[in-house]
Formats: sequence, C-alpha cells, structure tokens
Amino acid sequence: MNAESPTSLMVSIRNGAISLGLFAVLTATAISLTFVSSSDSIAANKAAAKAKALAAVMPANLYDQSLLSAPLQLPNHQQLNVPESALGYAVIKSKLTQAVILPVIARDGYSGDISLLVGIDAAGTIKGVRVIEHKETPGLGDKIERKKSVWIDSFMGHSLTNTTAQEWAVIKDGGEFDGFTGATITPRAVVNAVHQSLLYHHQHQQTLYSAAQEN
Ligand SMILES: Cc1cc2nc3c(=O)[nH]c(=O)nc-3n(C[C@H](O)[C@H](O)[C@H](O)COP(=O)(O)O)c2cc1C
Repeated sequence: MNAESPTSLMVSIRNGAISLGLFAVLTATAISLTFVSSSDSIAANKAAAKAKALAAVMPANLYDQSLLSAPLQLPNHQQLNVPESALGYAVIKSKLTQAVILPVIARDGYSGDISLLVGIDAAGTIKGVRVIEHKETPGLGDKIERKKSVWIDSFMGHSLTNTTAQEWAVIKDGGEFDGFTGATITPRAVVNAVHQSLLYHHQHQQTLYSAAQEN
C-alpha cells in the first residue's frame, strides 16, 4: 500500500486547490472578455441595422450626417402608439433639419402590432415607409414588407395636402391605396398608421424641428 505522509497529503491538497482556483479565475476572465466583446458587437450590429432601416425611408440627397446622430424625443408619443422611450430622428443637411423619421405603431393589424418607420420632409411629404416588425400572416398580410412587395412604396409623395382625409384609406373603404385580395385588415391598419404619423408631424413639426436644431 502506498501510504502518503500527512505532509505530502496537505501539499497535494494545497496544489489541487491552487490549480482549481487558477482554473476558475482564468475561466471567469475568458467568459467576461467574451461577454464584453460580444456585447460590443451586438450593440454595433443593432446600430448598423437601425441605420439601415432609417436609410430605407430617406433619400440620401436629404442628409449629410449620420441618420443616427440626431435622435429626437417625441412629444405626445402616445399619438404614435409608441412607448416613451421611442425616438424619432432629425435628418440633417448643411446643419439644417430637412426632414424627420418617425416611428409609429399600428395597433389594429390582423395579428397585433405593426411597427413602422416613416420619413417625412419639411413640406410634410412622405419620403419613405418601412415595416420594421409585424406578425401578419405569410402570403396574406406580409405584403406590407418591402422584400415581399412594392406596396409600401405607394405612400411616397403623399401628404396631408395632396391626399384628403377620406383618401387616406384603402380603395375598398373609398380611399386611394390598394388593399390585398382577401386581406384588407393589414393594409387598412398600415394606411391609418401612416396617416396618423403625418397628422402628428403636422401638429408637432415646430417642436420637433426646433429640438433638432438644438442637438
Ligand atoms: C388563418 C387566417 C389568416 C389571416 N391573416 C390575415 C392577415 O394577415 N391580414 C389580413 O388582412 N387578413 C387576414 N386574414 C383574413 C381576415 O380574416 C379578413 O377576412 C380579411 O382581412 C378581410 O379582407 P377582405 O375584406 O378583403 O375580404 C386571415 C384569415 C385567416 C383565416
């Protein structure tokens, strides 16, 4: 039998404890380094995705600084159905606000909320609209996505001046905008939300533009 002396047993216990401790410290360091670097890249990816979404609703000739550079708090955010934390963005060229990008949520989609971004220039004309998130049915309501159909482009050029309140509706309801066969609920909700964003812009334009210039 290989009986270890009490002293060498203590030494091997101590060595084992030191190795275990070192291993724990190294593992914890590796985990935290991975966490820091992946949360940095997650934040960078999120910012890039946001910048891409904003650029999709605003022609490049209207800005010469990053669309993320001038976030706007939204007065009376409830009118857009967005949470208080939601931000709009001022679109700036030659240090002047040329347009704004507003978030708006349609609460009356077929399957729940439909989140949108709407780009509106200083004259109150729509420069672009994109659906950011929705749960509408594939093949029916999802034609609101730009990658599925060009329907969402039909808002471009519309304003409160060239399109009356009655015309801000799908054709089936007596308005200007095409619906989808057998799926009117989704486009109706989107048309209403885009119209609402224009009404909001009209009501708060001064506040939004002066806040943007202070940025
Ligand atoms: C399973 C299922 C999914 C549906 N998904 C949608 C949808 O995503 N968007 C929508 O507008 N209508 C959807 N509809 C149809 C609506 O219930 C409704 O009939 C339709 O929007 C009315 O449009 P219409 O007036 O053109 O017939 C769906 C129906 C079913 C049975």
